[in-house]
Amino acid sequence: MTARIERVGVVGGGQMGTGIAEVCARAGLDTVVCEVDRAAAESAREKITASLERAVRRGRSDRSDTDAALTRLTFTDDLDNLRDRQLVVEAVSENPEVKTELFEVLDKIVGDPDAILATNTSSLPVIRLAMATGNAERVVGLHFFNPVPVMPLVEVVETLHTAPETLTAAREFATGVLGKHVIHAQDRAGFLVNTLLVPYLLSAVRMTESGFAGPEDIDEGMQRGCAHPMGPLKLADLIGLDTVAAIAESLYQEFREPLYSPPPLLKRMVEAGLLGRKTGRGFYEYGED
Ligand SMILES: NC(=O)c1ccc[n+]([C@@H]2O[C@H](COP(=O)([O-])OP(=O)(O)OC[C@H]3O[C@@H](n4cnc5c(N)ncnc54)[C@H](O)[C@@H]3O)[C@@H](O)[C@H]2O)c1
Repeated sequence: MTARIERVGVVGGGQMGTGIAEVCARAGLDTVVCEVDRAAAESAREKITASLERAVRRGRSDRSDTDAALTRLTFTDDLDNLRDRQLVVEAVSENPEVKTELFEVLDKIVGDPDAILATNTSSLPVIRLAMATGNAERVVGLHFFNPVPVMPLVEVVETLHTAPETLTAAREFATGVLGKHVIHAQDRAGFLVNTLLVPYLLSAVRMTESGFAGPEDIDEGMQRGCAHPMGPLKLADLIGLDTVAAIAESLYQEFREPLYSPPPLLKRMVEAGLLGRKTGRGFYEYGED
């Protein structure tokens, strides 16, 4: 199995991909971020640079560490640049067709058979992505939490085909290299955390949809009444309403329980492009920062 992981690839440079790339670069790893086109790759570079600069301004990191992390990052729109990677973390949009096709291609590109292909999917069966490759044993779920530089947890998801060596290397990467805490999760839609969290978020959407309470009251209730760091609708906006709806859909497809079914308001907001923080408007409106 792979020697110490030093060369990492991240596919998808959105909220999660940039966070994962940032923590990898900070941990001293040579990190290549791959996006759909050059403009998206450039936007990923800007997001990570802004996040690293923010950490310096807030005294969480010093200038020399930030500059060193930036030199370890490369941005591309060509998957071929992932050929020599020892670990690739897929963090593209929660779309089963896009992810499946990507795993098929990555498997051919990432030459070393010991290299690990990981997915950050929130809810899709990891085995489906594994079976799109010719070597399901090297595929594992590494489910990070948002924002990645801040949140300490990673769910490590084992499929029916994940090799024990892959699992061990993935756990060691998350804990020993990135300094995260891991929990083991089974390959079921939503894994552990989202299976509990998403019905709660959907209940808050239904509550506001029915006119029972407005977003501010719901969020304040949970924040001040239950000491949650943020209320469910602010959290849904942070996750991205498209992602929340996609997770709900996967959970519903898997378990057929009404509590997982995405409410009409959520689906309409996604269709309207009101995706939360990342588009500037969801249940709340957001400024530039
Ligand atoms: N948002 C969260 O809180 C959260 C938490 C944990 C896991 N996840 C999972 O992480 C993944 C990404 O979520 P996100 O919030 O970063 O989404 P996002 O919308 O912020 O970013 C997705 C990125 O993927 C890129 N992309 C799409 N297809 C691509 C391809 N074929 N090649 C390269 N890049 C491609 C898009 O251009 C976009 O920049 C999803 O699977 C999601 O379920 C999200």
